Amino acid sequence: MRVVTNKFPERFLWGGATAANQFEGGWNKGGKGPSTADMMTGGTHTTARRITPVLEEETYYPSHEAVDFYGHYKEDIKLLGEMGFKVFRMSINWSRIFPKGYELEPNEEGLKFYDDVFDELRKYNIEPLVTISHYETPYGLTEKYNGWASREVIDCYVRYCETIFKRYKDKVKYWLTFNEINCLTMALGAFMSGGILVNGKENSELSMNVKDNPQLRFQALHHQFIASAKAVKLGHQINSDFKIGCMIAYMTTYPNTCNPDDILLAQQKDQISNMLCGDVQVRGYYPKYATRFFEEKGIRIIMKQGDEEILKEGCVDFYSFSYYMSAVASADPNLEQVGGNLLGGVKNPYLKASDWGWQIDPKGLRYTLNHIYDRYQIPLMVVENGLGAVDVVEADGSINDQYRIDYLRDHILQMEEAVKDGVELIGYTMWGCIDLVSAGTGEMKKRYGFIYVDKDNEGNGTLERAKKKSFYWYKKVIETNGEDLE
Ligand code: BG6
Repeated sequence: MRVVTNKFPERFLWGGATAANQFEGGWNKGGKGPSTADMMTGGTHTTARRITPVLEEETYYPSHEAVDFYGHYKEDIKLLGEMGFKVFRMSINWSRIFPKGYELEPNEEGLKFYDDVFDELRKYNIEPLVTISHYETPYGLTEKYNGWASREVIDCYVRYCETIFKRYKDKVKYWLTFNEINCLTMALGAFMSGGILVNGKENSELSMNVKDNPQLRFQALHHQFIASAKAVKLGHQINSDFKIGCMIAYMTTYPNTCNPDDILLAQQKDQISNMLCGDVQVRGYYPKYATRFFEEKGIRIIMKQGDEEILKEGCVDFYSFSYYMSAVASADPNLEQVGGNLLGGVKNPYLKASDWGWQIDPKGLRYTLNHIYDRYQIPLMVVENGLGAVDVVEADGSINDQYRIDYLRDHILQMEEAVKDGVELIGYTMWGCIDLVSAGTGEMKKRYGFIYVDKDNEGNGTLERAKKKSFYWYKKVIETNGEDLE
């Protein structure tokens, strides 16, 4: 029988999260090749980012410099150390290791860069948590194979995994195979997550309304499932201490009313958008409800002999997810809709929304943690959670982001409730601990960090780092293992 405790477990992994394409910059330095993210323009709150199959000379591409972690990693890690981080979630830029994606030999300069980063983290006793693929695929794989639409990309990914697993086997223990793998269940994910140009060679927008091809997307998702399972098996062979997890964008969806039509709709959304990927990656097989969904949508997943065994042999060790908001589903198409992280839904009158319209729901995090844990009974980690907001630098240089502290505190309190409920939660990495480029809009103005970076939407700024009020607050949270949240 578990003893009910108010406390986060000892050795709880407190930290923050980033992704190379939004953070690192140095897009063509040290032998790195272009990635899919490097082909995406900036956008704004109201204008979608564009995918440009060929780089345009006069266009600004936010990932090219991002906030230049590539040139600032020592200074940045020192700041994380000062906050007392136990864990730092970062991704390896695949095209820094294999510039086109399909080479047989890796780029030594790229490998060396991450050696230096991991060594620097070790100095401050910070455990790296590495996402192997976070919304960037070497663009060479898009040009040659149309990205994950082709099965050939599985071998390229596994070669990349083998290279980094062997190289960093004594430096990294925690790995995530794909960021928000369920993004491919949505139209928006085709390019961002799958490196697929649905429209062929023309420019297209990265938005919810892109021309869609569900057959391609779900086939690509199958390829990622196989690649992930192969990576898990291989990783465990290379180092049996590795802990390898899945990562899902979790959008808890409530029914708008107790009308059974709303309830069934919410359940179906939960199954396809949230549960499908976790079910495959944790349990090692496709759930039954997927068969009906595929049939009704006219999707035929081409499986090769042996795929079912591969999935079974590559189940993840832990389940991680991002949580920013909840959504509401209604069978009534006339209700007011709001936006959100990858998916929107109907407006929830009980919740406030962020400046970007995401409905803030801390209690939904407790609900979600219980929901996932009941289903899988394996350790959970919240690897993204945070508030994208406009920060103001005062005349004296201070940045009083009390709204961010409030958001994070409310979510941490609910995580604590979930721990009391019996959920095995092992870590929390809030999103964008140092300001970085927004994935959805390409903006810098939408900031998440404890650390401010002087850079604007057009790419102007000194890149200087500054501590926000939340920096000092989070330091105290970590020091007290989540007890002092004031
Ligand atoms: C998650 C992604 O969906 O949300 C991150 O994994 C992303 O890459 C984060 O940055 C926040 O979204 P946005 O659009 O505000 O950057």
